[in-house]
Amino acid sequence: MGIMALPASEIIEKDRNHVWHHLSQHSVLKHQDPLVMVKGVGSRVWDAKGNSYLDASSGGVWCVNVGYGRTEIADAIRDQVLKLNFFASTAGTAPAAEFAEKLLEKMPGMSRVYYASSGSEANEKAFKIVRQIAQQKHGGKKHKILYRDRDYHGTTIAALSATGQEERRMHYGPFVPGFVEFPHCCEYRSQFGDVSNYGVLAANELEKVILREGPDTVGAVVFESITAGGGVITPPEGYWPAVMEICKKYNVLIHMDEVVCGMGRTGKWFGYQHYGIKPDIVTLAKGIASSYAPISCVVTTEALFDEFIADSSDRAAYFRDVSTYAGCTAGPAAALANLQILERENLVNNSAQMGDYLLKQLVTLKDKYSVIGDVRGKGLLLGIELISDSKTKKPVAEEVAIKIAGMCMKKGLIIGRTNRSFTHFNNTLCLCPVLTLTQKEADFIVATLDAVFRELLESVDLLSSTLVES
Ligand SMILES: Cc1ncc(COP(=O)(O)O)c(C=O)c1O
Repeated sequence: MGIMALPASEIIEKDRNHVWHHLSQHSVLKHQDPLVMVKGVGSRVWDAKGNSYLDASSGGVWCVNVGYGRTEIADAIRDQVLKLNFFASTAGTAPAAEFAEKLLEKMPGMSRVYYASSGSEANEKAFKIVRQIAQQKHGGKKHKILYRDRDYHGTTIAALSATGQEERRMHYGPFVPGFVEFPHCCEYRSQFGDVSNYGVLAANELEKVILREGPDTVGAVVFESITAGGGVITPPEGYWPAVMEICKKYNVLIHMDEVVCGMGRTGKWFGYQHYGIKPDIVTLAKGIASSYAPISCVVTTEALFDEFIADSSDRAAYFRDVSTYAGCTAGPAAALANLQILERENLVNNSAQMGDYLLKQLVTLKDKYSVIGDVRGKGLLLGIELISDSKTKKPVAEEVAIKIAGMCMKKGLIIGRTNRSFTHFNNTLCLCPVLTLTQKEADFIVATLDAVFRELLESVDLLSSTLVES
């Protein structure tokens, strides 16, 4: 009997008894049923109890870019795995070669695609590339990798060592040496007060850290072009030109983590393309195959690839890295079909247009509710930062964001939020709907949030100091 044929109560019981959910405190499930999802079509998902939701989180973790139920992608996977499901990526396969070419057409200046199967893994590989270059070219110097406060780069130990989210890291030290944090660039939370040149000042903080560490020790800086899980932080004006200048000055590689911002999410093919950034390394996952199959990529320039072409004196200078599942052909087959859908349906453009529309509507909510301190984002990656005091911008406690997300869900809308990532700033709601979003769906998102904020205002809870971060 197929699992879909089981009654809801049985699926839920099996889940409760046997499955360990990610990022979840299971004691909660003693008092409530676990959420079990069973179906998705377009922008909607259904749980095992038959409740349907508009999913403004693209699968909970910003990844189902083209939406659910795409027969075309399923067919592409099926056809490919029947022909050849796998061969180790020490060799090539047809879909991997074809997808690499198509992907690079969207990334002028980039030249090589190295496959993996998750965002964390792609970032790990990028870090290994930087370290190997440090060894081969700089006598072991230039091995340090700088990362930004608030940015997330993954769950594995090196990726977490490069993550600026203290609550996410809390239990997992000691961390890998050679990863160094520099300050965030969230203008709403400016470290310099209300200044007109915040972007440049924030970039200068990176230079200070490079100088403190010693430029000859720093090999690369890793950034999200728009910080996603760390609170949807759009870079301030003047930030990127100054950052690029600094990296050039100290011969530091730029690694853009486009795991969330890639594949049309922000209204361009890649988030870094909004800002004229010229990366040396780009990592991709999530939306690359809209999560119909696990696949990630490390994309590099030809100059960087050339560092691994041995001259006769050092034949060992190849990239000594391998991952079994990088050879699964389902990933690139799905990614190819995904790319065709994005192109044919003009979804990158839709992301830009619907993102602008949604942002404008969110601004009207901000004018209405003082609990909304800031709304920001690009394309269909948007954040709503919640505060308990407009003068001090004191963040609301995480319980408020949890409560709002729960209230939305009861009204048939799934939204995301900063999830136990920081000591104080788990106060941002995240909207990251599928890129096919229609105006009607956008209006539903706004109307639902409006109703929730109104109810919240009327409830005594919000007035209670227990809901304010202390
Ligand atoms: C910006 C960013 N980089 C990397 C990752 C890690 O990707 P994965 O969960 O596929 O390992 C994530 C996951 O949320 C992410 O948001």
